[in-house]
Amino acid sequence: MTLAIERGVAEASSTEPKPSKKIGVPKEIAAGERRVAATPATVKKLQKLGFDVLVEHSAGEDANFDDASYQAVGCEIVPTATDLWEKSDIVLKVQPPQDHPNGQHEADLLGAGKSLISFIWPAQNQALVERLSNQQATVLAMDAIPRISRAQKMDALSSMANIAGYRAVIEAANQFGRFFTGQITAAGKVPPAKVLVIGAGVAGLAAIGAAKSLGAIVRAFDTRPVVKEQVESLGAEFLELTFEEDGTGQGGYAKTMSPEFIAAEMELFAQQAKDVDIIITTALIPGKKAPLLITQETAELMKPGSVIVDMAAEQGGNCAVTKPGEVYAHHGVTVVGITDFPSRMASQASQLYGTNLCHLLSDMGGSDDYKVDFEDEAVRGALITHAGEVTWPAPRPEQPPQPAAAKAAPTEAIAPTADLSKDAKNSASPALQSLVKWVGIAAAASLFLTIGLTAPASFLSHFTVFILACFVGWQVIWNVSPSLHTPLMSVTNAISGIIIIGGLLQLEGLSATSVLGAIAILVGTINISGGFLVTQRMLKMFRK
Ligand code: NAI
Repeated sequence: MTLAIERGVAEASSTEPKPSKKIGVPKEIAAGERRVAATPATVKKLQKLGFDVLVEHSAGEDANFDDASYQAVGCEIVPTATDLWEKSDIVLKVQPPQDHPNGQHEADLLGAGKSLISFIWPAQNQALVERLSNQQATVLAMDAIPRISRAQKMDALSSMANIAGYRAVIEAANQFGRFFTGQITAAGKVPPAKVLVIGAGVAGLAAIGAAKSLGAIVRAFDTRPVVKEQVESLGAEFLELTFEEDGTGQGGYAKTMSPEFIAAEMELFAQQAKDVDIIITTALIPGKKAPLLITQETAELMKPGSVIVDMAAEQGGNCAVTKPGEVYAHHGVTVVGITDFPSRMASQASQLYGTNLCHLLSDMGGSDDYKVDFEDEAVRGALITHAGEVTWPAPRPEQPPQPAAAKAAPTEAIAPTADLSKDAKNSASPALQSLVKWVGIAAAASLFLTIGLTAPASFLSHFTVFILACFVGWQVIWNVSPSLHTPLMSVTNAISGIIIIGGLLQLEGLSATSVLGAIAILVGTINISGGFLVTQRMLKMFRK
């Protein structure tokens, strides 16, 4: 009875519009953090997803977004952090929860049944994860979003690493007393700066791109040979070791290399140190201390005025002389150990991070259908605590079937009947496929024989021309080398070309055939010129 009444209430209320969920954006309290989890532009996206947005007073100030700019897009400005956490259903933050200057811990402000989405770094912050799970709330870590294609739009690690890589070059340029680009002037010749980037992940590639665009000669090294092509496509030289060891580990990340490899690598860097002006190191192994790659001796081999930017400073550093958070001179070499690269471009970083959050919230159903879907690989990967349980790390997704299992399939597929449906055909044995081919050839031959014996002579001459035209057309179209931006476009242009030739042959006096021929020429021409125009626009997008 009670159940029926409850069900009745649920059914009655399901017809009423759901109240919008409230998203709260507090001011970041971590020392030196200038970013904010939502900008006026991303607030608009959140509102489109059905959310109401509350922003703590002066939350966006350090990222150049004042309270008025949030009010202008319809946000409610809340005076204190306590009020904001209390009024919000979902809190969006950048840094993990920590002690608030008001004496409370941010984790304790998260009420039961509410959600928090921010960077958490669960492996390094296990006490925090325990504390959050006691709140009976849902916590998602942006740093735990899996690096899968579908989740790229939510990948805050990549968007922040991209900014960090760019900023590392700008910081290096700031410390370096010379041009990056080479110049020949009346006052003399200036050689280009030489930059070595160690580690070509997202940050490393961004650094390569930025240094290259400033005109430097750029070299790069990574333990994953797969990045060679990416490095070269950015115009940098990929340094290689004569050492057979692939550093590609789980999920495309790097794995720890053998001591022999690291020794060979360090020898390479010692050689390079004598020649290059700037070294930017980004080498990281997920969940481990950063590998030490630049020894004190190597750093001292660099010319005075050179710069080392150690982007791994926070994880222990790739360089022995790095002081995390500091910029100082060691034997005439400036060592940059700053750890807040994205925060130094707070406005841009907040915009990208806020957009990553919008994509995640859209994936979770927006305001009306907001839910924690355990089947969603992106959400499940990022889920740290839910309903009082610690849900991190997520179980590994199921592996695709092993080749051995796949091998067993054909014998089963052949046995029952000669079923030539698509699936059966795909799994059929080569013997069956060859039988099908010969049956097809025999059927076609007997069809042509029947036509040849029974059809009138006039039909036969047209039919011969038709068959030859099919053969020639096929060869002409498929042998076109694709010079446009897709092979498909080249093929459709070849077809249009043949149509135009056919149309031209039909132009003779004023007749219905000529009109049709003219229409064919017009349509074919539109298709071809459209193809070139689209290609032109695509190429422009890749040109600077
Ligand atoms: P990361 O920040 O963990 O590591 C930085 C780089 O350091 C990596 O390229 C790594 O190979 C390199 N490294 C490690 N040890 C080294 C050593 N001893 N010497 C030289 N280099 C060393 O990497 P990040 O940027 O987070 O991404 C790594 C990979 O993750 C990507 O290349 C890609 O395969 C994958 N990824 C996938 C994404 C997706 O599909 N959504 C998005 C971003 C990355």
